[in-house]
Amino acid sequence: MPKLLHIDSSPLYGRSVSRQLTGAFVAQWEASHPNGTVLDRDLNATPIPPVTGEWVGAAYTPEEARSPEQKKALALSDSLLAELEEADEYVFGVPMHNFGVPSVLKLWIDQIARVGRTFSYADGTPKGLLTGKKATFIIATGGNYDPQTQMASFNFVEPYLRSVFGFLGVTDVTFLTAGGTAALNYGQDRDAFLAPHLQVVQTHAQAI
Ligand SMILES: Cc1cc2nc3c(=O)[nH]c(=O)nc-3n(C[C@H](O)[C@H](O)[C@H](O)COP(=O)(O)O)c2cc1C
Repeated sequence: MPKLLHIDSSPLYGRSVSRQLTGAFVAQWEASHPNGTVLDRDLNATPIPPVTGEWVGAAYTPEEARSPEQKKALALSDSLLAELEEADEYVFGVPMHNFGVPSVLKLWIDQIARVGRTFSYADGTPKGLLTGKKATFIIATGGNYDPQTQMASFNFVEPYLRSVFGFLGVTDVTFLTAGGTAALNYGQDRDAFLAPHLQVVQTHAQAI
């Protein structure tokens, strides 16, 4: 039974482009995977603290040697990791915030990038441990960061996600970007703007 982990990170909910597109992805994925299950993780409704010195110390302490306090420090990380490990596929909704990923997504990444769980340096070289997973990142940006544009070098969203997930072992990745959403604030019709992006997302969700 395939499992999809659906993660959103836009604070705009009903007005969010990335949430609407991940919603369409999930609906299509469910239609094409009648035996599948979907787990939703809304990062704007999940309080995630920054990692602390205690957290780092606990992560680098062998599991069997961890104190009850250290286990407590890693409890949220453990539960977020369990979701990642049990899912076969991931879909992320990612709004660009200040040229990078939203802070709630960065906090989540800091919780799930765990030595011995999602990466290791066992033989001196980094090895990603989250293997056999497929990820789709649906990104929404106010401006346009297409490769040939002047602003392309300001886009730290896709390069960062490709690097960090690759480091963790997730290399089967697809990036679908809805660029230029700022036009919606200047009278562009939302349905007309979204139609081609919905088409791309649904086609991809059906194919994977
Ligand atoms: C806090 C914040 C920061 C933003 N920073 C950028 C930015 O650096 N570059 C950009 O093109 N758009 C930026 N935007 C616009 C968003 O990327 C755009 O509204 C996009 O549609 C967000 O995705 P969402 O609709 O799913 O929330 C920003 C929006 C917010 C709320």
